[in-house]
Amino acid sequence: MQKKSFKTKNGRDIQIREITSGNEEFLESLISMYTSLSSKTLRFLRANPFTSSEVKEMLKRVDGERITSLVALNNNKVVAEARLIKYSEKTAEFGLIVHDKYQNKGIGQAMVKSIIEACKRRGIKRLIGFCSEKNKVALHIYRKFGFKVEKTIDNPYISMEGRVLRLSITID
Ligand SMILES: CC(C)(COP(=O)(O)OP(=O)(O)OC[C@H]1O[C@@H](n2cnc3c(N)ncnc32)[C@H](O)[C@@H]1OP(=O)(O)O)[C@@H](O)C(=O)NCCC(=O)NCCS
Repeated sequence: MQKKSFKTKNGRDIQIREITSGNEEFLESLISMYTSLSSKTLRFLRANPFTSSEVKEMLKRVDGERITSLVALNNNKVVAEARLIKYSEKTAEFGLIVHDKYQNKGIGQAMVKSIIEACKRRGIKRLIGFCSEKNKVALHIYRKFGFKVEKTIDNPYISMEGRVLRLSITID
């Protein structure tokens, strides 16, 4: 299993690793992260807060094949999660959340890098991400990694602010 460690700009030790449904030891920490996200962090994603049972179901679905989960840990506590969902042999979509208290410290970018590495290991050649056009931070990061807007979709999720952009990169 792939693991990567680094220090954030303010000196916190972060480890990024893959988990699967078998890693029940992280369930409480995942629940704690998801259920304590602020409305500011959730505003581009959904209207309602995550519930514990939802997070439990989310972990159950991680098989490391069709659905991959990467978590960022600080002192063994989950502070961010990135998910990779395979559409087909060579195409996958990813999603990313960094907990409020850990944002703007370089963790989001480290997670995108790790997601791209996970794609390489799996032979995925096209990586897709969805993002509100008003999500300046996510757009800044995705553009840094070379993502290009493929399509603008009129707000299909009532909970998301602004129109939704579909971005993608090709992975060598
Ligand atoms: C988007 C998100 C994943 C970013 O994670 P993060 O760990 O805070 O990001 P990082 O610290 O790695 O990078 C932040 C970057 O945005 C830049 N940034 C900060 N505020 C900004 C703003 N208002 N406009 C543009 N860029 C901004 C920072 O300067 C930094 O870039 P730099 O390293 O080039 O200077 C996190 O904010 C999050 O979880 N948001 C809510 C969920 C979400 O939007 N998910 C992704 C879209 S679906």
